Amino acid sequence: MIEQDTPVALVTGAARGIGKGVAASLLRAGWSVALTDIDEAAGQAAAEELARLCDAAGRIEFIVMDVADEASVMACLERVEEDFGRLDGLVNNAGIADPDNGPVEQLSLEAWNRLLGTNLTGPFLVSKHSINLLRESTGAIVNVASTRALQSEANTEAYASSKGGLVALTHAMAVSLGSAVRVNAVSPGWIDTRDPRQQHSDPLRQIDHQQHPVGRVGQPEDVGAMVVFLLSPAAGFITGQNLIADGGMTRQMIYVE
Ligand code: NAI
Repeated sequence: MIEQDTPVALVTGAARGIGKGVAASLLRAGWSVALTDIDEAAGQAAAEELARLCDAAGRIEFIVMDVADEASVMACLERVEEDFGRLDGLVNNAGIADPDNGPVEQLSLEAWNRLLGTNLTGPFLVSKHSINLLRESTGAIVNVASTRALQSEANTEAYASSKGGLVALTHAMAVSLGSAVRVNAVSPGWIDTRDPRQQHSDPLRQIDHQQHPVGRVGQPEDVGAMVVFLLSPAAGFITGQNLIADGGMTRQMIYVE
């Protein structure tokens, strides 16, 4: 039985990687979590694993949702209302996380639309259908963008555009929703999302870590800590912002030696 005052978060794309790490951080901070993903088998397994690992006071439940499909989004939000009775935090994390689209002159409209449909239209749809519940609790939204909203490698137009659009969607919704629902973005840099066993057996190179001013590549919990803060009352004076968690990479000048 959940306490009536346990806050409830919905995390999209939480079957693995950053979303699963964010869900773990929220559970450890005392939230209940509606864990959602398009991948039903992996999502169920993640929910079971987190329930075992996190020893959480809150409740965890998996709900299947394709963020790019409005009917699926509406059905998921109905389930959240029925099963949890409230929503205090939304984390728009689901995304096609592979930035390489090949040469832009060969990028098909279909591939462009598929990526934008998940990474940008998805957060719009899930936010749209969450706002009524979030208003009731004076809740908050965190969008998981990327430092690629601000800087690029070659051949990443669709992904960079989706994340730049998501940062803009963040400040637009923040201004529209005002004091009712705060809206912020987190922009991670390089996050190692492989499971801990694989990170141990196939470690990254020292140079991968050392190129970061903080001396290491990021972990999903680094993003989780930012999300916990941004969803909490401690962040009550912050809205419309894009907070960067990249170990300092976007602050470092690089000259050829
Ligand atoms: P991942 O590929 O490990 O996990 C993404 C999850 O989203 C998967 O479980 C997948 O099934 C789900 N998903 C994909 N399409 C979906 C849809 N239409 N509806 C619902 N769920 C869907 O990716 P990762 O690395 O954990 O990334 C998570 C977020 O963080 C993404 O938005 C990504 O762009 C962003 N990000 C990741 C960085 C990294 O270094 N890993 C850096 C910066 C941003």
